Amino acid sequence: MANTNVQTGCFIGIDIGGTGIKGGIVNPGKGILEGSCIRLATPQPATANLVNEVVSQIVNELAAGSNSLDHSSTVGVTFPGIVQHGISRSAANMDSSFINCDINTLFAGRLGRPTAVINDADAAGLAEARCGAGKHINGTVLVITLGTGIGSALIFDGQLVPNAELGHLSVDGFDAEIKASAVARERDGLTWKEYSARLQRYFSELEFIFSPELIIVGGGISQRTDEYLPHLNLRTPIVPARLKNEAGIVGAALQAASTRNGISAPA
Ligand code: BGC
Repeated sequence: MANTNVQTGCFIGIDIGGTGIKGGIVNPGKGILEGSCIRLATPQPATANLVNEVVSQIVNELAAGSNSLDHSSTVGVTFPGIVQHGISRSAANMDSSFINCDINTLFAGRLGRPTAVINDADAAGLAEARCGAGKHINGTVLVITLGTGIGSALIFDGQLVPNAELGHLSVDGFDAEIKASAVARERDGLTWKEYSARLQRYFSELEFIFSPELIIVGGGISQRTDEYLPHLNLRTPIVPARLKNEAGIVGAALQAASTRNGISAPA
């Protein structure tokens, strides 16, 4: 069995997105933020080195404002691309310097403390499965985040199957996120009804492939699910994410609390 070093106390979670980088201090037992979240703009171009600087700025600010944090504890960091063994393997909405970049070592080196990196949608999925709309649901649960791209987390019996990348499923000859992300709705000037038709195609495809017990919708527009969920016709229950926009931060902190994948900061 894997040797899981479970740390206690609060943890910093950082959520890297295409337009903003957010961070907060999280109580992993409760799955909630202690205090408010800090958000800074994602640098453009979003190169690995510039993003690393912003991550460290947010972590330092959070750490300076807290006297209850263990300052050597692991920091959880999400990344909007495939993350395998601490290495980012894709960067659909980030600079190409992230492709095949050892981001765990990069972030840990700058911070001088261990980090645990995880795909952004996987983090949101972990948070929803443990503390949100997917809690106590057995079988297959899909968490789909609609934002700059489409992120996905595949959960089975509460366990995450990492890096599912279902936003890149080909639907009607197009990469799904090109047509059905929140950004695609704005870019193409779609009404909610028109956008719902694209979501119907996408979610029907997911339903056919996975026969999930539940679909949870997160990301920026999970606050506006009243505009599109009622138009969808699926046999699978589909609900908004309960942790809303904070799911990524909470999931990052949950990943940090279980340091199985964490790599210690270089001495
Ligand atoms: C990336 C995923 C990411 C999603 C949401 C997609 O383009 O391939 O890894 O989770 O965007 O940020």
